[in-house]
Formats: sequence, C-alpha cells, structure tokens
Amino acid sequence: MTHVTPDESTLVLGIETSCDETAAALVMGGNDVVSSVVSSQIEIHADFGGVVPEIASRAHLETLNPVIARAIVEAGVDESRIDAVACTHGPGLIGALLVGVSAAKALALAWDVPYVGVNHLEAHLYSAFIEDPSLEFPLVVLLVSGGHTMLVEMQDHGRYRLVGQTIDDAAGEAFDKLARVMGLGFPGGPAIDKASDSGDPAAVDFPRAVPEKPYHFSFSGLKTSVVTFIEKASASGDLPSLADVAASIQEAIVDVLVKKTFRAVDDTGAKVVGGGGGVLANRRLRHRMAEEADKRGVTLALPDPILCTDNAAMIGVAGGYWLTKGRLTDWAENVDPSMVL
Ligand code: KG4
Ligand code: ZN
Repeated sequence: MTHVTPDESTLVLGIETSCDETAAALVMGGNDVVSSVVSSQIEIHADFGGVVPEIASRAHLETLNPVIARAIVEAGVDESRIDAVACTHGPGLIGALLVGVSAAKALALAWDVPYVGVNHLEAHLYSAFIEDPSLEFPLVVLLVSGGHTMLVEMQDHGRYRLVGQTIDDAAGEAFDKLARVMGLGFPGGPAIDKASDSGDPAAVDFPRAVPEKPYHFSFSGLKTSVVTFIEKASASGDLPSLADVAASIQEAIVDVLVKKTFRAVDDTGAKVVGGGGGVLANRRLRHRMAEEADKRGVTLALPDPILCTDNAAMIGVAGGYWLTKGRLTDWAENVDPSMVL
C-alpha cells in the first residue's frame, strides 16, 4: 500500500453506503468539499414504511459506480489525482456496508492508494468541522440520527467521552414512528418538520421523559402518549389540527435534546457546541439551539442541513484526518455493523 504525506492538495474520495443513501464525495486538503453526490433510496423504501436492508444493498450495488463517477466528474479532476479512498465500515446495515467497502478497497487497490475505513458516527461528529476546521476543543456534540442519539464530549481529534445516550428509541426513529401514527409517511422527520410550519408547539403538552441518568434520553413513551391522545381527542371531537399535533410532537422531542445538550455545555464549560445526524436538519431544533448558544455566548457549529443527513463529504473529512495521522486500514479488516464510537 502506498503511503501519502497529506497536505493541502491531498484528494480523498469518500464513500458512504451504511444505510439508505448512496454517496460519494471528493475532499481536498482535509475539509474542502470539492464535490458531494448523494443518491437517496427514500422513494424505494417509502412503500414499506422504513428501510428494507436487502433492498438497500441491491440499490447501493446498482447506484454506487455512477455516483462515484459523478463525484469525480463534478470535481473536475482526473481519477489519477486521488490520493486515498475512505469509506464507512460501520456501524450500519451489514449488506449495505459491504457494498461500499468492497468498492472502496477495489478502487484503492486499482489506483494503488491507501484505504481508510471510517466510523460513521465519528464522521457525523466531524461534519461540524467542514465549515470551520479551527473549532476549539472541547466540543459538546449532539449526534441525532435514525439509529443513534448521543451527547458526546469531543476532547480532541479522535478523543471522545460519551456523555449520554438514548435508553430506547433514537430521536430520528421517534420522528419516523410518530409520523407513521399520523399518516405523514416516511421519512417522518422532514414530514413532521414541514407539517409543524403553521402549528402551535404549545397546543398539546406531550410528556418529556426524564430517565434516571441526567444525560440519557428516552423517546419510546412519547409514541404511546401521542396514540392515546389522538384516540381520546378524536372520540371527544377535540382533536387539534394536524399542524398543532405535529408542532407539539416536534417540540417534545426538541425540548429534551436542547435542554440536555446545554446542560452538558454548562457542566463541561465547553465553548463550542456541534451537531450531526439527520435530525439536526430539523429547523426548530436548529433555531432552539441557536437561541441557547446565543444566551451563553458559545459558538454553535452546525453543519449545513444537507451535511447533517448521511453524505460522503463527512466520510472524506474524517478519513482525511486519519490519513494525516497515518492510521490506514488493513485490507483484511471487515465491516462492523455494530461498531461503537
Ligand atoms: O443521519 P441520517 O441521515 O441517517 C442515519 O444515520 O440514521 O438520519 C436519518 C434520520 C431519519 O430518522 C429522519 O426522519 C431524520 O433523520 N430527519 C429529520 C429531519 N430530516 C431527517 N428529523 C427531524 N427533522 C428533519 N428535518
Ligand atoms: Zn448517519
């Protein structure tokens, strides 16, 4: 395997196929995203109300090569310029991960460049650095996606402390389940976000679960209270508008995410708050986090909403960091569907 000494012209091809987005990106010099292509499978899975693993793998297989080709064309570079290939090797759906990792290893071997396996969760943390690579440690980062809900203290590059996490459903999973209850379709997060536009977040006071540990989250009870509320309100003819219910559900989820994140900020004395994962595309969550950051005079480093949901730019950025440290991945290393941070 060829070794490279990374500098500002180092070009990394990032690949992401851990769930239902097939993505490729070219990242130069650590964090300059030269191209980023994301092909979503949402429409394929929508009829099933969630991601079907086998269908996801097949779709990645069909789409990945054209997606990589497009990322290279959009970057306007020749493939011979690529210095390394980085790819998500966990956590995620095993079949989906295998498609990306096999392609990444094959390309790296063919081009005689290093291969860097990237932890998908770490990549979400790194998405905060895309706009500002000079963020000051420690950072408190809220990582909220369809599969994870975590508060992480990022003490340095590659050094993390798990502050808290969900004890049941992930925040994105809660959005998806509740949207299904309301007949809003899949994925539920964007649907609830949109439906809340004209709603009153204080219309229904849904419960905020308070797990024993101060930084842990719990969202599974919310579904039961929403279902019970809708049944009772429908029976008595007092059902508020769809917008009001959606806005109130959104507020119940956002409220705990914001409160616990900023409790961690206050307790750790962090001066920077970051975020990553699909749920951070939520407009109400971003607005509330901005308000709290403003009150405390701390820096809020949220990636553009497009970089919150799964993408390969964050894989290229995280992979580029490990390349700098000389931590390459062995060809024999396999995917790990339940990889932890
Ligand atoms: O990070 P991501 O793209 O994939 C995973 O790694 O899981 O996150 C997907 C999750 C889904 O649950 C989706 O409903 C949620 O992010 N999501 C949102 C929004 N956009 C995506 N949740 C709330 N508001 C949004 N605008
Ligand atoms: Zn993700």
